Amino acid sequence: MLVYVTVGSTGFDALVGVVCRKEFLRSLADRGFRRLVVQYGSSDDVFDLPITAPELFGVSVEGFDYTRWPQQYIEQADLIICHAGTGSILEALHAGKPVIAVPNHELMDSHQSEICRELAAAEYLLVSEPGQLADTVDSGKYLELVPYPHADPRPIGEILDEESSRTNRDPEWKKAFVKYMNAELALTNERFPVMGLSTVDLEGRPAVRMVSPRGFVGDSFLKVNASDHGQWSSDVLTFCTHAKSNKVQELVNTNDIQAICWLPNIKVQIRCSGHAHLLFHPDNPNYSTLSLDMRHRVWPRDGTKEQDREAKEEQREIKQFGGPVKPLVNGGVEIDTEYIREQAYLNHSPVIQAWYSWPAPGKIRSADASLYPMEIPKIKDKEESEKFEANARRNYVLIFIDVNQVDIVDLNENTRRIHTRRSDTSWSVANVNP
Ligand SMILES: Cc1cc2nc3c(=O)[nH]c(=O)nc-3n(C[C@H](O)[C@H](O)[C@H](O)COP(=O)(O)O)c2cc1C
Repeated sequence: MLVYVTVGSTGFDALVGVVCRKEFLRSLADRGFRRLVVQYGSSDDVFDLPITAPELFGVSVEGFDYTRWPQQYIEQADLIICHAGTGSILEALHAGKPVIAVPNHELMDSHQSEICRELAAAEYLLVSEPGQLADTVDSGKYLELVPYPHADPRPIGEILDEESSRTNRDPEWKKAFVKYMNAELALTNERFPVMGLSTVDLEGRPAVRMVSPRGFVGDSFLKVNASDHGQWSSDVLTFCTHAKSNKVQELVNTNDIQAICWLPNIKVQIRCSGHAHLLFHPDNPNYSTLSLDMRHRVWPRDGTKEQDREAKEEQREIKQFGGPVKPLVNGGVEIDTEYIREQAYLNHSPVIQAWYSWPAPGKIRSADASLYPMEIPKIKDKEESEKFEANARRNYVLIFIDVNQVDIVDLNENTRRIHTRRSDTSWSVANVNP
């Protein structure tokens, strides 16, 4: 029986030091292991020193700094002990092996420890400090772990190509969406992008109009161009609208949608298909229309150190008045949709906020100009101002789009990629003719 220990692309002296100790080898021997293979990275000094005999208690020990072909060890291993890097953990779990993850507190970012904690809470792996590793092996608990649901018999290289969609990272289409939208905005004077949103009207005919994407649930203040910030992330796209607009009734009736945009400066077309779920003000009789299960649609963000630092500060501020996203012990998260709706409203300029206080869109315009304030704070009468403010908040509807297909045509590159959500929520990508 083989134990494979891997520290990834850096070193991890504490872990490498521990697995070379006699006590640890004795624990392995007691559990029936006969071979220990250690990928020790830059911790070569620590690996070399304690190995005085190549075999102790009947356990043979081998080591190397790096290998381009870890699969051969992963596939043979009966137990994998790895640093708590997301890539190493998922590679081992996908291979269907019992995993003990050892956090390297010097290197780990909060997002890695979050993933590790969630996987441990779901009993897909064990977490151990280096000092407790021998006891963790002795306990034999690695034999009682819950099989990882995405364990897959295919070669690991093939699976890793899809990693971004199965794990806590943004799917490829979302990264492309944000990148293209921001590239286009940078070349224009526009402050926000627009898309044509199509619905099916109440007579069954197509209806299309311009709307502005507000970014993704979990991203800071739902701004497409702020999507690099925030501790949480999702692939749920958002729009907002007035509760009395035609599209609201249409979406309550049939929630199939398409949204499309042409970004002329960068020559890219993006078309998203999916289902709309509406978030109303709690006073609205349609309040309960949100039927999207958000638990696994939001995940901790993969950020650079700098972004993580910013995200932590932001999270600290958010905590003062209740955060929008709460991790659940058994994986997934619960989100406070009303908080997100409120924040999205507050993030608009006073001019746009005022639109939501106006009478129903599409109805004959009244001659009474006071019904159409340009900015609510400019209304002199305090009571009147509060009435308009309450109305605007009540009329503000956030639309969550559960995207199931994204078709991106890049005419500069002459490429067209169709991203399709699979039933297990991972994404496939097809290169097709433009
Ligand atoms: C550039 C632009 C951006 C717009 N953004 C939005 C938006 O984000 N949400 C919205 O409800 N309407 C937006 N509108 C107005 C809609 O296009 C539409 O006229 C209005 O919402 C009524 O549509 P409906 O009767 O089909 O529901 C925008 C219009 C333009 C021209």
